[in-house]
Amino acid sequence: MTIERIVSGGMQEDDHAADDSLRPRRLADYIGQDRLKSNLDIFISASKQRGEPLDHVLLHGPPGLGKTTLANIIAHEMGANIKTTSGPAIERPADMVAVLTKLQKGDALFVDEAHRLNRVVEEVLYGAMEDFVVSWVIDKGLKARSINLAIQPFTLIGATTRYGMVSSPLRDRFGHVFRLDFYDDAAMRTIARRSARILGIQAEDGGLMEIARRSRGTPRVANRLLRRVRDYAQVMGDNVITAGIALDALARLEVDGLGLDDSDRLVLTTIIDKFDGGPVGIETVAAAISEEADTIMDVYEPFLLQKGFLDRTRRGRVATRRAYEHLGLGFPKSQGAMF
Ligand SMILES: Nc1ncnc2c1ncn2[C@@H]1O[C@H](COP(=O)(O)OP(=O)(O)O)[C@@H](O)[C@H]1O
Ligand SMILES: [Mg+2]
Repeated sequence: MTIERIVSGGMQEDDHAADDSLRPRRLADYIGQDRLKSNLDIFISASKQRGEPLDHVLLHGPPGLGKTTLANIIAHEMGANIKTTSGPAIERPADMVAVLTKLQKGDALFVDEAHRLNRVVEEVLYGAMEDFVVSWVIDKGLKARSINLAIQPFTLIGATTRYGMVSSPLRDRFGHVFRLDFYDDAAMRTIARRSARILGIQAEDGGLMEIARRSRGTPRVANRLLRRVRDYAQVMGDNVITAGIALDALARLEVDGLGLDDSDRLVLTTIIDKFDGGPVGIETVAAAISEEADTIMDVYEPFLLQKGFLDRTRRGRVATRRAYEHLGLGFPKSQGAMF
């Protein structure tokens, strides 16, 4: 099984160019996440009034919901330059020191996949975040000594799909922690409409709504489905995405009415058929479908949990009655006691 699914929120090969052109630059153009946006707006205004950098921000939520976009917007609204790196890209403490000491006053440092920073690299960040000082130890044994260096005040913006895997000392040093939620259908339609306009795609409201509804509350998926459906509209229709064209195209892409694709259905049917509906450990499910447990937890599970198809219990994952019903399967009586 591959992760290159049409409804995966993760970044894929042909998303790069589109992601960039479709990325809103200002907070006002960022659709949805209203509570987060209004809080952020206040914090940004307040720190600008004080002439200070914004306190460090941690953004967390499933892939494709707009964390990278928001990081860039924050920097832009602060009038700050942004440097971008990621947890796995910084291997040694010295690399982190190099990044931090190059920062100019007020810069934003965006660290994507913050949960994948290794501990020794992270330790360099602690002092930098707290006191704008980097300290690290050089040499070993008797010759070991630590060096302290003042750096410019900056804002660290961390992003992660796995909040629980960010170490607590790091987590505690963020002044603002924002969780991004899946978008509702109305926000998704607005996003699809905006993207269609930017890409010069003709689409009727009904067509956009079908795409929005099947995009699992994830803007990146909406943008991708929009591009695919456009291809159908071009070849099979007269270049306009109508509701009919959208429905036909999405059926051919095997994306169902709630945005589940083959892989989601495989996760659910595996739990149901091979493990009697659960509870079953995520590692066991992963092995049964030859997929990484991490991928299941990052990419598939958040949406299935949110839709109420899957339940996470202490003894493992359980397929819910809704999952059976959605898949057109009978819900066994013996399972009933669990819900
Ligand atoms: N709130 C939003 N409004 C409009 N488009 C959005 C929004 N959030 C995300 N997008 C679109 O979705 C794409 C993926 O967002 P991105 O920030 O890369 O997600 P993440 O970093 O969380 O994986 C962006 O290129 C952008 O076009
Ligand atoms: Mg990102």
